[in-house]
Amino acid sequence: MRILGADLETNRRRTSVKWQAFPPDVLPLWVAEMDATLAPPVVAEVVDLIQRGDTGYPWPTPYIEAFVDFAADLWHWGVPQTHVRTVTDVMVGMEELTRILLPDGGQVIIDDPVYDAFPLHIENIRREVVRVPLSHEGRLNHDALEAAFAAAQGEGRPAVYWLCNPQNPTGTVPTRAELTGLADLSHRYGVRVVSDEIHAPLCDNHDDFVPYLTVDPRGLTAASPSKAFSLAGLKAGLVIAGDDATADLTQLHPVVSYASSHVAVRAHTAAYREGRPWLDQVRSEILENRELLRSLLAEKLPRVGWRQPHATYLAWLDVRELGLGTRPAHTLAKRAQVAVSEGANYGPSGKSFVRMNLATSPEIITEAVDRIEHLVDDWMD
Ligand SMILES: Cc1ncc(COP(=O)(O)O)c(C=O)c1O
Repeated sequence: MRILGADLETNRRRTSVKWQAFPPDVLPLWVAEMDATLAPPVVAEVVDLIQRGDTGYPWPTPYIEAFVDFAADLWHWGVPQTHVRTVTDVMVGMEELTRILLPDGGQVIIDDPVYDAFPLHIENIRREVVRVPLSHEGRLNHDALEAAFAAAQGEGRPAVYWLCNPQNPTGTVPTRAELTGLADLSHRYGVRVVSDEIHAPLCDNHDDFVPYLTVDPRGLTAASPSKAFSLAGLKAGLVIAGDDATADLTQLHPVVSYASSHVAVRAHTAAYREGRPWLDQVRSEILENRELLRSLLAEKLPRVGWRQPHATYLAWLDVRELGLGTRPAHTLAKRAQVAVSEGANYGPSGKSFVRMNLATSPEIITEAVDRIEHLVDDWMD
């Protein structure tokens, strides 16, 4: 049985934002939700809790232990349990760590392009957003980062850098050398790094993923199985301190840890403990969907530019040659009934891009490309 195999009618019964925000004739390939059937151990855990009325407040220890074992198993990363705390979700973790590192305000340096919610969460904690372009290949740009870090230091502005590892939306996976270069800059200019590693279990090869804390003991990380196991509706997450950052973690207010949901904590624990077979299958289905999109684009939309990602289920598509106007995603939703994410939301460099979510059935991906092809053909006639 496929995990990402449900037909359109079945998916339309979903009540989350992905399937509700657009009219029913629009195919939703936007927000990073998977159209997945969940891992059986996660379902069994949640059903058992509900049936037994075991729905109180969270107890974090098994969740932390499960993450520690998962990190050791997948990435050979040894994380001491004492370096981990639970949080409401990854973005709350990113916010709270940043409040600790920048107690009196300052800058949060982020990539251009990067996950579109980053600036919103920085705005929420009233810190200043500074954008640094990725390289032309969508990779960390050390020269541009150094310029931004040096400017912050020169102006006496405290700053942190939010690393997105692996990167959303480009799907690049920073190498150990790239991360070591970043850690050097961090130390040289006093700009601490907070790494968002929510997409890490979705790397094409687990060996490609380098946890940032393995190159920088002063780093801090936020993680969760919610993206890889399709559990965004079950709110919980983790923050992890590098060996030289544990003092920062002690400043995390306990209420932040209490705020995760017990059912979510138990579901995430089951995913980390028993979800490996499901994860392996969903990763191979994502690769198949990626290959499907590659061949459909080559056949039907050869003018779309796409650099193959090495992680996640997101396709960052350069549509500048399709003539879709200044808001290509808006045009596609209105005229082709295909909802993708507007590239400009990820930063100024994304304005001729759209982000397409491939965590759905092959039929839906095929239908979406057909619809876009017809629109483009009609316009060319
Ligand atoms: C890079 C990144 N971080 C965080 C999140 C959201 O995580 P959470 O729901 O745990 O806050 C997403 C969701 O797509 C994401 O892509």
